[in-house]
Amino acid sequence: MSDAAIGIFDSGLGGLTAVKELIKVLPHENIIYFGDTARVPYGNRSRKTIVKYAEQDAYFLLSKGVKMIIAACGTVSSVAVDLKDELPVPFTGVVVPTARAAVRATKNGRIGVIGTSATVNSGSYKNEILRADKELCVFQQDCPLFVSLVENGFISPEDDIVKLVVERYLEGLKYEGVDTLILGCTHFPIIARAVSDYLGDEVTLIDSGRETALYAAELLKENGLLSDRSDQGVCRYYVSDTVEDFKKTAEIFLDKSVGNEVSHINLEQTVIH
Ligand code: DGL
Repeated sequence: MSDAAIGIFDSGLGGLTAVKELIKVLPHENIIYFGDTARVPYGNRSRKTIVKYAEQDAYFLLSKGVKMIIAACGTVSSVAVDLKDELPVPFTGVVVPTARAAVRATKNGRIGVIGTSATVNSGSYKNEILRADKELCVFQQDCPLFVSLVENGFISPEDDIVKLVVERYLEGLKYEGVDTLILGCTHFPIIARAVSDYLGDEVTLIDSGRETALYAAELLKENGLLSDRSDQGVCRYYVSDTVEDFKKTAEIFLDKSVGNEVSHINLEQTVIH
């Protein structure tokens, strides 16, 4: 048992899709979220830069005494694969739980993966799917503009810009007849309706935030780290850019206000051991 908080980070706001699910799955846990809003997006940066940013994010959370770390970021999970071995607490990214859920969901054996360019170039989801079943067919598409749309609040499925970008990126996957699509970036569940409107209800969307929250709950249980509190946990947020901008957009992700639980931090001061 441990009453320490669960640490969770992303390059920006996308990881809040995982926070929302984590609150549903583990309502009694305290959560500390870090969004690297000053440096988002990560998805078009080099491996070296993504690894450095991921280490700084994780060590900031460790400095807050967290009992577990979740990289709620498809890009970090795909590229900074050695981070797990560096940390003194249990760690999970989003790739393994999400890929496994897609393997369970597909009926026709044709799975689509969308993510940032770094995620797609790493082949992380594809490799994990094929590790589970090498007969499956995997089709990948990077969708970097989805991150900008979401970070800037262009999320309505009725919005012509959203519809146009969705169609442009997903027409190839529609043509390939995928029946399951991995939303491999934690920003993407926010525009899931627009994606679903375009691909049709028969295509199952796999939300990396949801699957990772479920997996994290299992991991905590296995390590004997679940809290035994019975009251509602508290969620505290840290960002590297302005607090006000985060507050506004975070409401869209969480469907609730983050109140005054947000602070600005300067990551340059984080010490990596
Ligand atoms: N939410 C992040 C991901 O899952 C990323 C967006 C980015 O920083 O490019 O990949």
